[in-house]
Amino acid sequence: MATLRLGDTAPDFTAETTEGEISFRDWKGDGWAVLFSHPADFTPVCTTELGRVAALKDEWADRNAKVLAVSVDAIDDHQAWKKDIEEVGGSAVTYPIVADKDRKVAELYDMIHPGEGDTSSVRSVFLIDPKGKVRLTLTYPKSAGRNFDEVLRALDALQVNDSGPFSTPADWKRGERVIVAPTVSTEDALEKFKDVEEVKPYLRYAAAPTA
Ligand code: BEZ
Repeated sequence: MATLRLGDTAPDFTAETTEGEISFRDWKGDGWAVLFSHPADFTPVCTTELGRVAALKDEWADRNAKVLAVSVDAIDDHQAWKKDIEEVGGSAVTYPIVADKDRKVAELYDMIHPGEGDTSSVRSVFLIDPKGKVRLTLTYPKSAGRNFDEVLRALDALQVNDSGPFSTPADWKRGERVIVAPTVSTEDALEKFKDVEEVKPYLRYAAAPTA
């Protein structure tokens, strides 16, 4: 499988998970998906990561996003490890974890990077939109845990980008003002959006769009 690029259709798959067999596209439905891989069960960084994702349950739901974890370990290991994750992180793992023993999902999404040590997956994240397109990817090495606040922030940015002719500036957070796309003139922006500020002819801010 060639490397997935932004805008590509996210490959569909069926897989055994801790919540039963799923068909990815059906499971995702018409919402967003956060598909993320980790190297192995019963390992320290992964335990903190999956715990953090569990603790953010309401935040994913608030963004109409479902999360799906992937590793190449077996289903029995996943089920046993879930208890540790809950004990350590304080939140039950209610999202499915794929038991990717045959590495089908890892290969489809290019999650195994042989230069990173072994044949387990690295720490990949794919944000997949309601139309099934890959909208954002992140790849972290096995030694560095991800920042899931950043994953939420990126999801917010994509959703605002989709809500109008808006981009989001560096370090933007939900509720902050947005950048008006260059396709809209300042004159039109002043008519259509609130609190428009022209900092440069090519950099115009507007108030955060309301849902
Ligand atoms: C960890 O989760 O700590 C870990 C897993 C695999 C390789 C390196 C670190």
